[in-house]
Amino acid sequence: MSSTADVERTGRGFVGEALRNRRLLGMALIAAIGGFLFGYDTGVIGGALLFMQKDLGLKTHGQQELTVAILLLGAVAGALISGWLADRISRRRTKMISGTVYVIGAFACAFSQNYWQILASRFWLGLAVGTASFVGPMYIAELVPARIRGGVVSFNQLMITLGILVAYIVDWGFAGFSNNWRWMFGVAAVPGAALAIGMYFMPFSPRWLVDKGREDEARDVLERYRAGEKDVDDEIEEIKDVAEKEFNLRELLGKGVRRMLVVGVALAVFQQIVGINTVIYYAPTILKFAGQQDTGALTQSVFIGCTNVFFTIVAILLLDRLGRRFFLIAGTATLTVALVGLGIFFASPGVQSSVGWLALACLLIYIMGFAVGLGPVFWLMISEIFPLQMRGPAMAVCTMFNWGLNFAISYTFLTLTDVITKQGTFWLYAFFGACALVFFVTLVPETKDRSLEEIQADLGADADTGLSREREPETARA
Ligand code: BGC
Repeated sequence: MSSTADVERTGRGFVGEALRNRRLLGMALIAAIGGFLFGYDTGVIGGALLFMQKDLGLKTHGQQELTVAILLLGAVAGALISGWLADRISRRRTKMISGTVYVIGAFACAFSQNYWQILASRFWLGLAVGTASFVGPMYIAELVPARIRGGVVSFNQLMITLGILVAYIVDWGFAGFSNNWRWMFGVAAVPGAALAIGMYFMPFSPRWLVDKGREDEARDVLERYRAGEKDVDDEIEEIKDVAEKEFNLRELLGKGVRRMLVVGVALAVFQQIVGINTVIYYAPTILKFAGQQDTGALTQSVFIGCTNVFFTIVAILLLDRLGRRFFLIAGTATLTVALVGLGIFFASPGVQSSVGWLALACLLIYIMGFAVGLGPVFWLMISEIFPLQMRGPAMAVCTMFNWGLNFAISYTFLTLTDVITKQGTFWLYAFFGACALVFFVTLVPETKDRSLEEIQADLGADADTGLSREREPETARA
């Protein structure tokens, strides 16, 4: 087995290695177009929603919410199907199909004539988004050396935030055109086609090749993608070792893995229930609630997108130096305070008229807290806390929870603002933020500079088997 201590290296290691090895960089960039489109297609709806309501007759909050959220149901289905497809027909072909699904979905959304057509088209797009969230990082991680795998996971988060930012810029750029919302959806066909065509020129994942008994081809791919590291035999042996281990689903609920599953699922749930996607998907709507006009709301959404990208980069560069727990706790505390501030803004008309900018300030502080904490740390930690042979299924469970809760929160946001008021809604998310803080402080271990075996031992499992090892749960280390 390769050293696991270096698997956690993120940020600098990844950037340095990628710049030295251009072939690897090209592969990561093409494969991560899927992550970019995940961000684009989830972010674009915020601006499009302002303009499509009249054309498509989306009269009620319920119809608008479903138009936003149905994509997330598609994503749950997409993540499920793609797990199976990626094993059967290869990660590479699954990604080519997802690029094609993105292209068809972009046109279908752009040409929708009524509520039902846009629902069907957004569900279809969701299939590709779910595939991207799962197969993208999986394919890249199987091609890069173990020591920079952590950085790749964070790189994917960066591509998601970039996709969201570009969506906001496109929404803002098209705001003055007629039929603008159709263009907002339609332009995504270009990166979709780039993904489908680009993946045609990429290799199969060596892990998949070994699984299919095509060891020579796997060796060939590894040799081409490991500049200067001629001897890839150890890696092939490691892949074979893991591929040979039969994985039993019951192990996932076994005593030894339970605690890490609780941590992974809790991170997935908290990442969503603090309301991140009400801000990402409804930023222009929230800014309109706060008194902005359409164009002002779209311009300010671009600030939110930039803040998200900027602080994600900060996190990628510093996560290895300051630790995951530091960012998780500080970031969540920050976003909780911002949510309380948003509630205060909506609760008092006096504040709204005297400090009109407070809503935007709170949204920016909120997104900063998320971008350094729960945003990257959730995806990074679920790739670190599970033993190798159950990493795939365990990550899939966490990913499903993440998309499911994303759906529940986005689907209920506008209705909640009607039923418990706007301030009540933000205070509810703040309450979830406070619960998340308590959980992180008491139960989430530090994973920086520690081998996967050490992390897993802390969480009560034997890393070699992933099975129960009688051990008292330890309190997390600071
Ligand atoms: C989350 C998405 C969210 C995005 C925002 C990701 O980590 O999983 O739900 O839209 O961050 O940057």
